[in-house]
Amino acid sequence: MREMKFSDMSKEMLEQLQRGAFITVKDKDGNTNTMTIAWGSIGYMWNKPIFTAMVRYSRYTYDIIERSNEFTVSFPINNDLKNELSICGRKSGRDIDKFKDCNLNPLESKNVDAPIIKECDLYMECKVVYKQEMNEDGFLDNNVKDKCYPDGDYHVLYYGEILSVYMND
Ligand SMILES: Cc1cc2nc3c(=O)[nH]c(=O)nc-3n(C[C@H](O)[C@H](O)[C@H](O)COP(=O)(O)O)c2cc1C
Repeated sequence: MREMKFSDMSKEMLEQLQRGAFITVKDKDGNTNTMTIAWGSIGYMWNKPIFTAMVRYSRYTYDIIERSNEFTVSFPINNDLKNELSICGRKSGRDIDKFKDCNLNPLESKNVDAPIIKECDLYMECKVVYKQEMNEDGFLDNNVKDKCYPDGDYHVLYYGEILSVYMND
């Protein structure tokens, strides 16, 4: 694995995010899960490089990240993994083992307990430094609220300090 500068890879990460990436979480009891994400942002806050992930309350991923406060994001740049992104974006880890069903192999990461996904090629490890629960009072544009949250299943925003970005050699 080759360590990269976060700012050199942000274009690749943002472009792939639109096509889908895997956020992976693991709690101290070993419960591990991955799900597809396409929303998120990369930038600087508190003098740190930060990736903000958006996870809805209804996700199994939410249950785990609430306990672990860390996550990895694995980006499938060369191998598009379309089918796997689709399954991991529709099925819940409460019902299936997505790693097994999608033939995705968890690999140990460097700085956090959450693994990365071997079949991807660009990785980010994050430690949550701040979280923010969305609620209906915050919307200044009701179109966004009505379109994205018709049933009140809001996102929680997890601001993850980017500890490391690296790619397969
Ligand atoms: C392309 C795509 C992008 C998605 N992005 C997000 C996201 O950013 N946040 C989120 O909470 N759910 C997102 N989802 C939905 C979750 O991936 C989906 O509900 C998943 O089954 C939840 O899995 P879990 O219950 O195992 O956590 C997305 C789904 C797809 C297909």
